[in-house]
Amino acid sequence: MCGIVGYIGSKKVSPILIQGLTRLEYRGYDSAGIAVIEGNKIEVKKDKGRVNNLYSLDGIDDLKGTIGIAHTRWATHGKPSKENSHPHMDNDKIFAVVHNGIIENYNELREKLIEKGYEFISQTDTEVIPNLINYYYKEDNEKDNLKLLRAVKNTCMDLKGSFALEIISIREPDNMIVVRKDSPLVIGKGNGENYIASDIPAILSYTKDFYFLNDYEFAYLSRDNVKFYDTNLNEIKKITKSIEWDSKGAEKAGYEHFMLKEIYEQPKAIRETIGTRLNNSKICFDELNFTKEYLESVNKIYIVACGTAMHAGLVAKNMFEKLCKIQTEVDIASEFRYRDPLIDNKTLAIFISQSGETADTIAALKLAKSKGAKTIAISNVIGSSITREADNTIYTHAGPEIAVASTKAYTAQITILSLIALYCADILRRADIIKIEEIKQDLLKLPAKASKVLKNVEEIKKFAKRVYKEKDMFFLGRGVDYSASLEGSLKLKEISYIHSEGYASGELKHGPIALIDTGITVIATITDKALVEKSISNVQEVITRGAKILLITNQNLENKGFETIINIPEVATELSPVLSIIPLQLLAYYISKEKGLDVDKPRNLAKSVTVE
Ligand code: F6R
Repeated sequence: MCGIVGYIGSKKVSPILIQGLTRLEYRGYDSAGIAVIEGNKIEVKKDKGRVNNLYSLDGIDDLKGTIGIAHTRWATHGKPSKENSHPHMDNDKIFAVVHNGIIENYNELREKLIEKGYEFISQTDTEVIPNLINYYYKEDNEKDNLKLLRAVKNTCMDLKGSFALEIISIREPDNMIVVRKDSPLVIGKGNGENYIASDIPAILSYTKDFYFLNDYEFAYLSRDNVKFYDTNLNEIKKITKSIEWDSKGAEKAGYEHFMLKEIYEQPKAIRETIGTRLNNSKICFDELNFTKEYLESVNKIYIVACGTAMHAGLVAKNMFEKLCKIQTEVDIASEFRYRDPLIDNKTLAIFISQSGETADTIAALKLAKSKGAKTIAISNVIGSSITREADNTIYTHAGPEIAVASTKAYTAQITILSLIALYCADILRRADIIKIEEIKQDLLKLPAKASKVLKNVEEIKKFAKRVYKEKDMFFLGRGVDYSASLEGSLKLKEISYIHSEGYASGELKHGPIALIDTGITVIATITDKALVEKSISNVQEVITRGAKILLITNQNLENKGFETIINIPEVATELSPVLSIIPLQLLAYYISKEKGLDVDKPRNLAKSVTVE
C-alpha cells in the first residue's frame, strides 16, 4: 500500500524517481508525486492519477535537482486528489515528507498542532508529520548538526501506527532522512549515490547492495555516506546485504503483462525453490535443524497467512497431517490475531507471506511468538519485515512478483511447504516411507510437468472468450482440489471482477446448488484418484441443472457432457494443486484481458497490504 522512492546523488533526480515509482505502481495507483531540492527551495509536483501523469505536469522537465523523494498512493485518509497526494510539506515549506503506512493518532496530533497555529490543507493522516517536524525543529535550541535528525526522531516518537518515511529539508539540502516502523523500506547503496524504495525490485537496476532498517532506526543519508542512529541518537553500525535477484525479473521481458510472465515463470520458480534442498532423497533445512525429540513434542501446527498465501497453507495442512500425523490448523491472519488462539510452547506456527510485509500476518506471528510458539516465516523477499520477527525464516525463490495477483509465489509456497512437511516426516517416521519417497520424487518432476501444463493455453483462451461476459462462476473440488478451487476463484474475482465462489463439491447440496441455473459456468478440478467417482457425481449434479463445465483433470475421464476438458499430468495428489492451479490462473488472466481490464493492477487492490 503506497510506494516510496528516493535518491540522493549527482544525477538529475526526477527521471530516477518517476521510473522507480513506475516499478512500484502495483503498490498503489490513485495519485503520485515527487519533491526535489532545487537550490534553496523544495519543488513539489503531484496530482491524482497514475504515475505516467507526472510526465505531463507543468515544470516537471525543468527540475534539475539531484536529491528527491517520491510517492505513489493507495488512498486511506482522504480521497484521491492533488491536495491529498504526497509529498506533503509543513506550513513554512521547509520540510517535505512522503509516507507509507497509517498514523492512527493523527487526529489528536492535528488538533494539538492547530492549537499551536498550524494549518492543514489535506485530509490525510500524513500532513501532521512535516508540521510536527517543523514544530520540533523550531523548538530545538541546540547548535549541533543533529537538529534535523532530532526533530524527525521526536516526531516519530509521537506517531502511533505504521510508517516508512523519507524526509528532505532546505535546512539540510545535501541530506535526507529515512525511517520505518512496520512499513517496508530498503536503502540501496551506490557509488557516490544512494537509493531508497519500498521494495528491492524498484531499484535493482541501480544496485544489488542493500541496507535493511529495523523499526525506529534512522538513516541519515548524504551522497557518499549512510549513517544509522537508534532512538537515543547513538550511531549504530549496519552492513549491506547483497541481493542475487536479476533486475530483469522486475521487467516484462516481452510479455504483455507481469501476470502472464509470472505464470510462465512457475517451472523456474518451483525448480529454484527446491534448489539443493532435496538431494538423493535427503532433505536439508539447516535453518531449522529440528530434532526428533523436538518434533515429537509438537502437538499442533498453525499455518497462518492471508489470501493466496493462506490457500497455499491449506494444501500444506493435508501433508503435515498425513505425513507427520500432527494436527494442523490453517487460519486467516486477520482472524487468528483477534481470536485468542490456543498456543503454547508445543505449538509450531508457520507464517506465509510473499511480500513479508503483510500487517496482519506479521501481527499474528508476533502474537504466536509471545505465547511461546516456535515461529517459522516463509517469504519471497529477503530482509522483509516478517523475516526479522520469526525464529526461523525459509525463503521461496520465485524471484520478484510484480503483478498484484499472486501466481508463482503460490506454487513456490506449496513447494517449500511440501519440502518442510517431508523433512519433518523423515525425522518423525510416522508415515509410510514408500509414500514419502514417492512424493519426493514427484516434487522433482514438478518443473517439467508445470511446463507441460502451460502448453494448454490455446484451449483456455478459447474457453475464456466464450465465458468472459458472465456475471458468476463456481469452482468445485474435493480435498486438495477444493484448495485449488478456492485459489482459482480468488484469481478470477480479483482480476476479472466476476463474482465467483469456490465450493467443496460435497457441500454443494447443502445450499449453494440453489444458485446453479441453465448456462452457468462451473470449473471443476478432479485430480484425487481416491475421490474421482464422488467428484464426477457432484459434477453430474450441476450438469443436470444446466451448468456448462470446464474440467481440469489428471485422470483419463470419459467426456460425460463437459464443455471443455483440460488434461494435466498426473502427480502425487498432495502436490497436484501446483499443476491444477496453472489453467485456473491462465483462465483468470485471459478473461480479464478479454474484458479489457488492467490485469496487473486490478481496481481497489495493492500488492502488499501493510495496513490492517
Ligand atoms: C491474491 C493476492 C493476495 C495475497 C495476500 C497476502 O492474488 O496476491 O491475496 O496473497 O495479500 O500477501 P503476502 O503473501 O504478501 O502476505
